Amino acid sequence: MSLNNRISISDLAAYKKRGEKWAMLTSYEQMTAEIFDEAQIPVLLVGDSAGNNFFGAADTIPVTVDELIPLARAVVNATSRAMVVADFPFGSYESGPDAALATGIRFFKEAKAQAVKLEGGARVVPQIKKLIESGIPVMGHLGLTPQSVHALGGFKVQGRGDDAARILADAKALEAAGVFALVLELVPEELAEQITKELSIPVIGIGAGAKCDAQVLVWTDLMGITKDAPKLAKAYRNLRIEMLNAAKEYASDVSSGQFPGPEQTFH
Ligand code: KIV
Repeated sequence: MSLNNRISISDLAAYKKRGEKWAMLTSYEQMTAEIFDEAQIPVLLVGDSAGNNFFGAADTIPVTVDELIPLARAVVNATSRAMVVADFPFGSYESGPDAALATGIRFFKEAKAQAVKLEGGARVVPQIKKLIESGIPVMGHLGLTPQSVHALGGFKVQGRGDDAARILADAKALEAAGVFALVLELVPEELAEQITKELSIPVIGIGAGAKCDAQVLVWTDLMGITKDAPKLAKAYRNLRIEMLNAAKEYASDVSSGQFPGPEQTFH
């Protein structure tokens, strides 16, 4: 660990050199951020997946910078070790480097995030360069990029057959632009393996097989809270059932007069 005792981009580069695999998780608020930091998850992503996992939207597209900033601030405030990466929402960087820098500055000053993530390949290289030369580390995101789901024709595996060359070229363009890490979402394992081998920066997979340097999951998928979680996710617990049962028990105890009991009562 280094700067401010948080995981830094140099620590992640060192993990890659040593061949150490690591895990990233999303977080959108204080409690999960505290828990995942205690679990020593090195990188927490305040993802635009907050759209369909926090704000009740159908997908990530409606999420705004104004909505994500308080979530990112909560995650930063609740952690002391993890690097907190803020995701750029759709509409906050596509128009060019100045828009991207304005968004990056807001996440840095208002939320105190330590890095940002944005979706796209060669087309966003000018934005990435502007951010990096202004002191804002950038994580890339290729493959199935959910903000482009309509242009991609749905949530489909990307980079099969001839399309692999496009994603490989984009990955190299992002590395050359200076991203410190790259998320690869929903691509064939063979392509993810090739990109992981050919790039010197950490490659973080989600639905990209086991050969990447790191993995990322949406925390509600990991904990079994998401209804209809995607196939790429693994539920390590079934908290949806646990929470449902706890809420039912509580309501039933209130109805029957068993809650509050003597321990929760003051005289
Ligand atoms: O927003 C998000 O959660 C993401 C991850 C799936 C990488 O972009």
